[in-house]
Amino acid sequence: MLMNHLLLRKIFLIDMTFKGKNIILGVCGGIAAYKAVELLRLLKKAGAEVRVVMTESALEFVGELTFRVLSENDVCTGLFNTDVSSVRHIEWANDADAVVIAPATANIIGKLANAIADDALSTIMLAVTSPVMICPSMNSNMYENLAVQRNLDILENDGMFILEPGSGELACKTTGAGRLPEPAMIFDRLEKLFVKKDLKGKKVLVSAGPTREAIDPVRYISNHSSGKMGYAVARCAELRGADVCLVSGPVAIDPPFGIDLVKIETADEMAGEILDRMDDADIIIMVAAVADYRPAAPEKLKIKKKDNTNGLSISLIENPDILKQAGKRKKRQFLMGFAAETNDLEINALIKMEKKNLDMIAANLVGVAGSGFGSDTNKVKLFLKNGKSQDIPVMEKTQIAHRIFDSILAEHGAEHGREEISHVP
Ligand code: PMT
Repeated sequence: MLMNHLLLRKIFLIDMTFKGKNIILGVCGGIAAYKAVELLRLLKKAGAEVRVVMTESALEFVGELTFRVLSENDVCTGLFNTDVSSVRHIEWANDADAVVIAPATANIIGKLANAIADDALSTIMLAVTSPVMICPSMNSNMYENLAVQRNLDILENDGMFILEPGSGELACKTTGAGRLPEPAMIFDRLEKLFVKKDLKGKKVLVSAGPTREAIDPVRYISNHSSGKMGYAVARCAELRGADVCLVSGPVAIDPPFGIDLVKIETADEMAGEILDRMDDADIIIMVAAVADYRPAAPEKLKIKKKDNTNGLSISLIENPDILKQAGKRKKRQFLMGFAAETNDLEINALIKMEKKNLDMIAANLVGVAGSGFGSDTNKVKLFLKNGKSQDIPVMEKTQIAHRIFDSILAEHGAEHGREEISHVP
């Protein structure tokens, strides 16, 4: 019976946006209901068609009008309302590609676990066959209550994805677990439900960002890497089910959810972290812009400006070439690098691939708009050890990251690409 129910649930194509997807957003009564407004905004921005279902208590916290205006749809607030009739709840349930309930109270969790249908949301939920994400939010004692935990276990066993609440000071002034995660996190985890987990069981090691090489305690040599490309690679691997470690230089962007983040400053530190972890990894992707040289003898005190001198010379020594060392040591690992070039893109990339013993290299131009450093988009050409190559036109760095993993998996002979997926995260 349960299996049949699970098989009935929809399977999806990999599509990294929510464009055209029908999402039901269930909102229950809790102080965190305001966060559902921002979640709705994110979903709409991503191109989703969102239908909001509010419980009676949710209406005490946020007005129906807010959700109606932002969703550009009727809001379902009761089974017998005139605008959204009791018949249409079946239509909504049938059309749904995914359902997210945020915040989910102990009340709705209890009802869903016991197939109770006494209001619009609980009734719609009984008819839903798509993936469901439940985002509990309540007082920490309520959340830890054995009956609530038992009900959450039931929902998890029924194939629903439970997003753990955060910990901290709650609206009721107690401290503990029960806080609704931020909308960006809920959005990200919801996206994960749509992605085929074709990297499940793989350990992926990624480097990102610049390194900083001290000249004195207040100055350093670095470059323009923002970390966006490397963070996109790490995020994509995590979404596709990999166990991800991201070794990152100093950047100003938020790390992806669900990864192990190791922060470093210098090339030497990055070398230590990458080489220490490489034997355990299946796929290693060096996206970081590692400084090739560092000051030979950084000053202990700030260098003072002197009058009437002919400038200042700093003597530089070579940093370790991390990728080259990894190339010498690798056994079963798939090793990939990036080549950041201002000219002769192809030939320089191919030389780097050969010298560093790589399985693949992504060549990108730097210093041009829409590609390389800092931008949200990139344009890369992938070269493989076996002589194959692939031109990837300008696209978002997250999309480039997906193309990279599609290629890696294709070369490994594993299943890959835009295929059907199961909803179970
Ligand atoms: O971070 P963003 O703003 O999004 O920008 C993305 C990017 C331009 C930094 C990225 O797409 C990119 O091109 N990364 C590689 C940058 C680089 O250092 O390229 P390179 O051609 O100098 O080095 C070739 C490869 O060797 C790289 O994989 C690099 O990580 C690695 N390397 C380089 C020097 C060194 N000492 N050790 C290394 O491992």
